[in-house]
Amino acid sequence: GRVLSVASECVPFVKTGGLADVVGALPSALAAVGWDMRVLIPAYRALRPLFAQMEEVWHEPGLFGGDGTVYAGKLHGIDLLLLDAPHLFDREGGPYGGPGGDWWDNPQRFAALSWVAARLAQDGIAGWQPDILHAHDWQAGFAPAYLAYRGKGAVRSVMTVHNIAFQGWAPVTLLNELRLPGEQFYPDGLEYYGGLSSLKAGLITADWITTVSPTYAAELMRADFGMGLQGVIAARAARVSGILNGVDTGVWSPEGEPVPFSAKQPGGKAQARAALCAAFGVDVPGPLAIVVSRLTHQKGIDLLPQVVPDFVAAGGGLVVLGTGDPDMEDAMRWLADAHPGRVAVKIGYDEALSHLLFSGADAVLVPSRFEPCGLTQMYGLRYGTLPVVAATGGLADTVIGASPATLATGVATGVVFHPTDALAFGQALTKLVEIYGQPKLWAQMQKNAMSHPVGWETSAASYAALYDKVRG
Ligand code: ADP
Ligand code: GLC
Repeated sequence: GRVLSVASECVPFVKTGGLADVVGALPSALAAVGWDMRVLIPAYRALRPLFAQMEEVWHEPGLFGGDGTVYAGKLHGIDLLLLDAPHLFDREGGPYGGPGGDWWDNPQRFAALSWVAARLAQDGIAGWQPDILHAHDWQAGFAPAYLAYRGKGAVRSVMTVHNIAFQGWAPVTLLNELRLPGEQFYPDGLEYYGGLSSLKAGLITADWITTVSPTYAAELMRADFGMGLQGVIAARAARVSGILNGVDTGVWSPEGEPVPFSAKQPGGKAQARAALCAAFGVDVPGPLAIVVSRLTHQKGIDLLPQVVPDFVAAGGGLVVLGTGDPDMEDAMRWLADAHPGRVAVKIGYDEALSHLLFSGADAVLVPSRFEPCGLTQMYGLRYGTLPVVAATGGLADTVIGASPATLATGVATGVVFHPTDALAFGQALTKLVEIYGQPKLWAQMQKNAMSHPVGWETSAASYAALYDKVRG
C-alpha cells in the first residue's frame, strides 16, 4: 500500500522534538513491512537549497495568499515532498515562531500544508496514488477534514496525536479564509470553545485516530489528560489505537559509540562514564543521572530543584542538557552553581553531546507530568542507563519499575514513580541510590534494560495492520 504522511517536522530535515524523530523513522520502518510512504513537510527557509535536488510535482497559484509549489525527491533515504509557499514559510526563525512568539498566521500556514496534503492524497502525485493520508498533530489536523468535506473517494485518513497540549486554535472569523464549510461549524463539528481547532477537526473527520502509546490512548479520554478534547476522543473510542513509538537502533547504538559497549561486553560503559565526568567536571560516588529534554512544565523539570539536593547528599550526581522555559534554564544553572563537582548543566540543543550523556550515565530521569510516548527513556534502556520515570503515557508502557514483584522475577529495567510530584520523585531517587549500592542487582537491571526491544519492528507491523484495516 501507499501512505502520504504529512507533518511539520521530519528528521533529518527539521526537528524541535520527538515528532520529527517519529515522522523521519516511519518511512523505512514501514517499507520493511511493505508500505510505501512519502512525507510532506513545509519548505522552511533552511530547506530551500534542497529544491535543486528535487523536481516540481504540483502547483497552485493563490494558496492562502501566494503561490504554492510542491517539490519531490529522495533525500537521506526519504521520499520527501516539500511545500514551497514563500509567503508562509520562507522566514527567519523556527517552524512555529520567531523571537516575538508564535507566528501570527500559524492557522493559515498549517491549513495550507493540510490543504495541499488533502489535494495530493486525492489527485495523486504523478500517478502515485496513496491509499492512506496519515496526519500528525495539530499542524496537519485540517488534512483529514479537507479530505472528508471535499469527498475523499477511496482515500482513507489516520490522525495521530503526538501531544494533545497543542490544539491549533484559531478564531471562527477565519472559517472562510481557511476554506472550511460554514455548515460544519457546530458543537459536534468544527466548533471548539467558540473557535476552531485544527486538531479537533482531524479527530472528528479522520477514519482512525492513533496516539503514540497505549496508556496515553486511555489517558486521553479522561479529563485530567485530554485537555478539553477528552470527550471528542472518547466518543470515537472504537476507532482509537495506541501504537508505541520505536527508536532508531542504528543511531542509538552503544555498539557504535566512540567507546563501544553492549549487554554482552558492558566494560566500555565505565570508560564512557569517566569521559562524561571529565567533560562536565563532575566526580560522583553514587549514581550519575542525566536529563536530556525540553525544559518545560510537561517534563516536570521544575521538580528537580526540590529533589536534587537530597540526591546529591546521598551520593548522586546530575548532568542536564536542555533548552526551554527561561526560568527553568535559570533554575538548572542555579542547581549547578549550588553543587559544584556534582551537578553540571549545558543549556543548548546538542545531539552529538546527548550520545555522550546516554553512553556514560547510570540513569536518565524523565519526571513528566504527561508523556504521550517519550524517546529518551528508550535511549536509556538501550544504553543500560536505567530510566527513572513517572508512571504516565509511554513511560509507563516502556519501563518495568523495580518492585518486590519485578525484583522477585528478575525483570525490572528502571524505577517508576507516581504521582508526578517532588515526594514520589525523591523516593524514586532514594530507591535508585539503594539499587546502585547492590552491584549484582544493578548489573542485572542493566542487562534487562539493554535487552528490552525498543526498535520499530513491532510498531511498524501494528501500523501496517491498521492501514490495512482502515483501507478495508
Ligand atoms: P518531546 O518530543 O516531547 O520533546 P521526546 O522524548 O519524544 O519528547 O523527544 C525528544 C527528542 O529530542 C529526543 O530525541 C531527545 O533526545 C531530543 N532532545 C531534547 N532536548 C535535547 C537537547 N537539549 N539536546 C539534544 N537532544 C535533545
Ligand atoms: C511528542 C510527545 C512525546 C512523543 C513525541 C513523538 O513530542 O511529547 O512524548 O515521544 O511526540 O511521538
